[in-house]
Amino acid sequence: MKALIYKKFGDPSVLEVVDNWPPPVLSPNTVLIKSIGGSVNPKDVLLRRGKFAKTLARDPLPRVAGHDIAGEVVEIGKDVSNVSAGDIVFGMTNKFSGGVHSEFALLDSNEVSCAPLNISTVEASSIPLAAQTALTALRDLCKVVAGQRVLINGASGGVGHFAIQIAKALGAEVHAVCGPGHIDFVTSLGADVVHDYTVKPVPAIASSFHSVFDVFGNFSRKAFAKQLGTRGVFVSTVPNLTTLCGELFAHMGFNKRSRLVQVKSSTTDLTQIREWVENGRLKPHVEMVYPLADAREAHRHIEGKHTAGKIVLSF
Ligand SMILES: NC(=O)c1ccc[n+]([C@@H]2O[C@H](COP(=O)([O-])OP(=O)(O)OC[C@H]3O[C@@H](n4cnc5c(N)ncnc54)[C@H](OP(=O)(O)O)[C@@H]3O)[C@@H](O)[C@H]2O)c1
Repeated sequence: MKALIYKKFGDPSVLEVVDNWPPPVLSPNTVLIKSIGGSVNPKDVLLRRGKFAKTLARDPLPRVAGHDIAGEVVEIGKDVSNVSAGDIVFGMTNKFSGGVHSEFALLDSNEVSCAPLNISTVEASSIPLAAQTALTALRDLCKVVAGQRVLINGASGGVGHFAIQIAKALGAEVHAVCGPGHIDFVTSLGADVVHDYTVKPVPAIASSFHSVFDVFGNFSRKAFAKQLGTRGVFVSTVPNLTTLCGELFAHMGFNKRSRLVQVKSSTTDLTQIREWVENGRLKPHVEMVYPLADAREAHRHIEGKHTAGKIVLSF
């Protein structure tokens, strides 16, 4: 089958589309999907460059790229009951190294859900990793409830544009930070107040917040000590010494005010997200769709770090 692979780590030129990759083998709890769309995430870029190769991503090369996929179910394992052959589904693999940007993708049944009915399958493929990250950060770590004020830094990208809409769906007042080119975009997503990070340093925003979701990941809780007070929660997406220590303390039960989000795909969360999409509370924005043959360009696009919403590969 066709697959987007890399045989060595490096820049986007290491990506190759081959047509002789062995198709995945169905097992009792898995779902075989004929791929229609698959979005590109910064994690795909990091893995392609060789990040985590000695820790969480030790799978040998060559590897198939990609975590997000949407398409039509062609076959289900004997223990699968949440989807059927012929369903259009969307999902994300929980395998750290990815492996689903191929003509046929295999996901565990608990990593997929039926896709929203009111958007295209290519749009649906933009959702799983980024929206589930935003949902986990805001619902589970920030514990956002109606009436709270939330700051989202990096609000115009993949995770951020879902985070604005999810925070609104949870009833929060949303303050969003983006660059000068995306003020209108972020406003259109429902942010109550929009800040341009080139006008004022983000930690200088004079307002109190119940939580800060640092999607771009260039700050630590300390930078927002004034805005968060003693009880506010800071969540980052980027693992580094400070965020990992905060997460360790949280797991040891000391304090849960500085957290690192770690996305995990689940049918339950995808179903919640599907409901929000179908009732109009959440809408993915796909800035660009690239044919699989242009996957190198798609990776370069993400590496630019100024995507509005998501970009997607079309199979
Ligand atoms: N831990 C996890 O489980 C997890 C899950 C998902 C993502 N992540 C990480 O989260 C980060 C964001 O992911 P993503 O998918 O949202 O990436 P993305 O779509 O590539 O984000 C692009 C956005 O970053 C914004 N940006 C660029 N420079 C900025 C700055 N100095 N300050 C604030 N925002 C800035 C850009 O806004 P403007 O163009 O408006 O400047 C752009 O819209 C990545 O590092 C990714 O690896 C982690």
